[in-house]
Amino acid sequence: MSTIADEGVKGLRAEYAGPLKGRVRPPGDKSISHRAFIFGLLARGPTTVEGLLEGDDVLRTRDASAALGATIERLAPGRWRIRGVGVGAALQPRHALDFGNAGTGARLMMGVVGGHGVTATFDGDLSLRKRPMRRILSPLSLMGAEVLREAEGGRCPITLKGTPDAAPILYRTPVASAQIKSAVLLAGLNARGVTTVIEAEASRDHTEKMLKHFGADVQVTIEGEGRRIALVGRPELKASAVVVPADPSSAAFPIVAALITPGSDIVVEGVMMNPLRTGLITTLGEMGAEIETLDQRVEGGETVADLRVRASDLKGVDVPAARAPSMIDEYPILAVAAAFAKGETRMRGLHELRVKESDRLAAVAVGLLASGAECRIEGDDLIVAGGKPKGGGRVETHLDHRIAMSFLVMGLASKAPMEIDDGAMIATSFPNFVALMASLGAKLTATG
Ligand code: S3P
Repeated sequence: MSTIADEGVKGLRAEYAGPLKGRVRPPGDKSISHRAFIFGLLARGPTTVEGLLEGDDVLRTRDASAALGATIERLAPGRWRIRGVGVGAALQPRHALDFGNAGTGARLMMGVVGGHGVTATFDGDLSLRKRPMRRILSPLSLMGAEVLREAEGGRCPITLKGTPDAAPILYRTPVASAQIKSAVLLAGLNARGVTTVIEAEASRDHTEKMLKHFGADVQVTIEGEGRRIALVGRPELKASAVVVPADPSSAAFPIVAALITPGSDIVVEGVMMNPLRTGLITTLGEMGAEIETLDQRVEGGETVADLRVRASDLKGVDVPAARAPSMIDEYPILAVAAAFAKGETRMRGLHELRVKESDRLAAVAVGLLASGAECRIEGDDLIVAGGKPKGGGRVETHLDHRIAMSFLVMGLASKAPMEIDDGAMIATSFPNFVALMASLGAKLTATG
């Protein structure tokens, strides 16, 4: 579907145009879509994918998977076939791997390269070049990979020399990060022995689930709030069918838009309800959101549901730090919901937001202040005063898709319109965002 955002228009304005009504299906989950190409590459034979997110981030992972030896065909919108090379058989890429804005793609593929006897250069846009990569490179070095070149502070461009004989390690992730966990496990796929990752707090488990689905021997044990994941190296991954559910992180935008726009009543279809991804739904429930779960079912190994969302009088809440891993990408849009709530919302333990596509803690606070909403940062906590923001602000998105979409959603319900400087990055995760929101009655216009 062609949209204003993907036709190269940068600035966008959002304004109130009445209640939102209708049914929409957000695009496929970004985390699973990246992994579909990576597992497709590492399996032998044809892996098929249904419902893939065809956003720019994922297409970068497609290109990198092809550069490492996969043969990839698009059969129809969202339907892809990947013929992989098998664990241990990735090819030497002939050019640098350009991941654009995609931190997940870059970090997971560093795991693949780290565990193979190939050398690859990883690079991306100005946002990706600012993001910390030592968190991935350190465990990979312990496994035997070598960093040949890196920009200051362990940043891209990075040239990584992998090892064909990776050492299995036991690694405790220093922060709850599915990307760190996944990079170690992907390198561990080609290690001689059992690679173990221990995380103190559980992060999204898509890699573990897909390892099982593709036939690897992986044991997951719950340890308090966290997990121990043990993977036996050098399995033959069996090419498999992957069905991608709708991305809860993208569903978050129409959901909050409906909650804050008076009179709205919408259904968001096929949303993945994996408990490690539903922190936002839990929090919105505590705020008094009317979100009804309809037709809960299992699709492609994940629980999914249609969510009926009605405009609601939200109240401020205290969001515990322990919930952060299950809603890490949803804080910008939660902050928007909080700006429309009655009373104060405190979101605790947001240190990881500082190293996302932008410094999201700062970008959210600046955007809220530009819209007339009151907020402050105390340590790693963001505190948002409720009320109804007057809007009328122009927000800098800093190459961050979720900052862009969050403040557009705010503009649909604030007293005056909201503008963003650059909507181009929306296409990294939600290529049809403008059209999908418009189908619900939202008014989003290009400003040039
Ligand atoms: C992701 C993990 C999270 C998340 C990102 C996707 C993944 O990052 O923010 O959008 O697919 O593994 P961290 O691992 O840095 O928390």
